[in-house]
Amino acid sequence: MKILIFPDAEAAARETARRIVAQLVAKPDAVLGLATGGTMEPVYAALAAAVARGDCDGRRFTSFNLDEYVGLAGDHPQSYRHYMNRHLFDAIGLPAAQARLPRGDAPDPAEEARRYEAEIAAEGGIDLQLLGIGNNGHIGFNEPTSSLASRTRIKTLTRGTVEANRRFFGPDEQVPSLAITIGIGTILESREALLLATGGAKAEAVAAMVEGPLSAACPASALQMHPRATVICDEEAAARLQLRDYYETVHPGGTEPAITAPKGLERTRT
Ligand code: GLP
Repeated sequence: MKILIFPDAEAAARETARRIVAQLVAKPDAVLGLATGGTMEPVYAALAAAVARGDCDGRRFTSFNLDEYVGLAGDHPQSYRHYMNRHLFDAIGLPAAQARLPRGDAPDPAEEARRYEAEIAAEGGIDLQLLGIGNNGHIGFNEPTSSLASRTRIKTLTRGTVEANRRFFGPDEQVPSLAITIGIGTILESREALLLATGGAKAEAVAAMVEGPLSAACPASALQMHPRATVICDEEAAARLQLRDYYETVHPGGTEPAITAPKGLERTRT
């Protein structure tokens, strides 16, 4: 796992967007796994700006979002479909057929989950999976005790997750308690995973994910098993990491220095 620590949330989001742009430059028709939440808003703003500048093509990729609330149609203002249209898809003009999310208002949500999993496989799997993290260590809506081998399915949200997401809903609106989410097994099959965490509320979850035991109690810890996982965080989200000094030595300021031989040992002696 690569741990990159940036001074603030803005710099962390900028780096996340830069890596998505780099993926689209290398492979314009990439399959992206996308996430929602407040953390991602500056990432999508930066990505939309990069597309507008012509830094990368914003119309050729296919994306699969992680999750959607059961019961919400795509035109509901709190649906994740609506979030994605508002923060990214409308701005870059991604053709609707390439912008996939589970249908929250599908008549049979369990069947919709199976169909969505098959759709990801039919596109050849996910090249770059973008992730946020819940305060309790969830990824997508894979709440604690989710199977680390799970596939796309329906999950019941914890009371804490419902409360954390209440801020996006009106005072008289009920926050949904069920969601269709990509599974942890599905996430682990992505060719690269990029998790962004910012703010002090995430510090405990970040420490458990990176340095805690591999455990369904912290679903994000499953990324310890991912061969190409990068965690980008700001200083506040990194605050509880025990080995922070080490991460900052390996990746000063969140950079990836070239590997060089130690001074004086550049040549192999024969
Ligand atoms: C929701 C989403 C997650 C997201 C999390 C954190 O639960 N399903 O994908 O990572 O919120 O959201 P925020 O970035 O608003 O803290």
